[in-house]
Amino acid sequence: MLQDRVLELLRAGSGPLSGEAMSAELGVSRAAVWKAVRALRAQGYGIEAQSALGYRLVSTPDLLSPAGLADPRRQVGREVVCLPLVDSTNDECKRRATQNAPDGLAVLAEEQTGGKGRRGRSFQSPAGRGLYLSVLLRPRATPQEVSRLTAWTAVAACRAVEAVSGLSPVIKWPNDVLVGGKKLVGILTELSTQAETGEVDYVVVGIGVNVSQTEADFGPQLAPIATSLALHGAQVRREELARALLGELDRMYRAFPREWEEYLAQYRARCATPGREVRVLTPAGARPAWALGVEEDFTLRVRWPDGREEALSSGEVSVRGLLAYAPDAQEDGGQQ
Ligand code: BTN
Repeated sequence: MLQDRVLELLRAGSGPLSGEAMSAELGVSRAAVWKAVRALRAQGYGIEAQSALGYRLVSTPDLLSPAGLADPRRQVGREVVCLPLVDSTNDECKRRATQNAPDGLAVLAEEQTGGKGRRGRSFQSPAGRGLYLSVLLRPRATPQEVSRLTAWTAVAACRAVEAVSGLSPVIKWPNDVLVGGKKLVGILTELSTQAETGEVDYVVVGIGVNVSQTEADFGPQLAPIATSLALHGAQVRREELARALLGELDRMYRAFPREWEEYLAQYRARCATPGREVRVLTPAGARPAWALGVEEDFTLRVRWPDGREEALSSGEVSVRGLLAYAPDAQEDGGQQ
């Protein structure tokens, strides 16, 4: 496509390039070059025109592309698919998994129309404002080991966010990543097992990061509990964040499940839930408890008011002081 070739020339050039030089180099008319420049500008490329000198590329749009993300040296992200629009990157990954997609495939989208959260919630996924990424993994591990991948992913997400933004996210058990007490990253892991043997067939790990949303973008329901990198002064390009995340997920996958002690230690160091009053959602309603710590299997040990202790394996826990949970407040209102 002519646009791509013009872009290549502008990227390679150290100074301005005249329309005449480009038309000669590409063997097309100057009008065709001008049309390609106009189309590139419409896609968000900043192309300055300096009279008598020509065109200069001054900025590139924050678009996700396999060319910028795929890395042959990695298992996770060796193959990358970037879509403008999808229902859910997790669902797209699952569809591809059933068609023999490779271990480590990454699917990203600019926008999701049916972004999924845990416990049947939705995940708000506006175009270009967040990072919506799912990876397909085919680990040689037991379902019990795989159930810990979500916690490992929370550690990987914290590391990636830290590396590109300088912020210090914390984990709200089991797998929300927060900054300033509000949710920055959500993780949804889906597992497929073989019907006869119960063995792991594949796992899809989906990660959503709020990148440039304003409070108005979140709206009155989400603004009290959700945040973005931009709201904390971090201007991060999504492609840079995606690259960091894929790097951390690759590192995690290579270590899984062998280096469990390291990931457990990192999880414990970052988890903000222990040492706080929590409210545990049980079938009989919300019950107060005290969070004591995270066990080796990533369960949360709590003490009930009657002194009994229990290790919670999953479920909903509101933590006082995080995600707008005040003692008498409502539950987090869903969505994020
Ligand atoms: C949650 O916090 O409840 C989990 C949110 C997970 C959202 C991500 S965005 C990419 C991937 N695709 C989805 O449909 N969900 C996950």
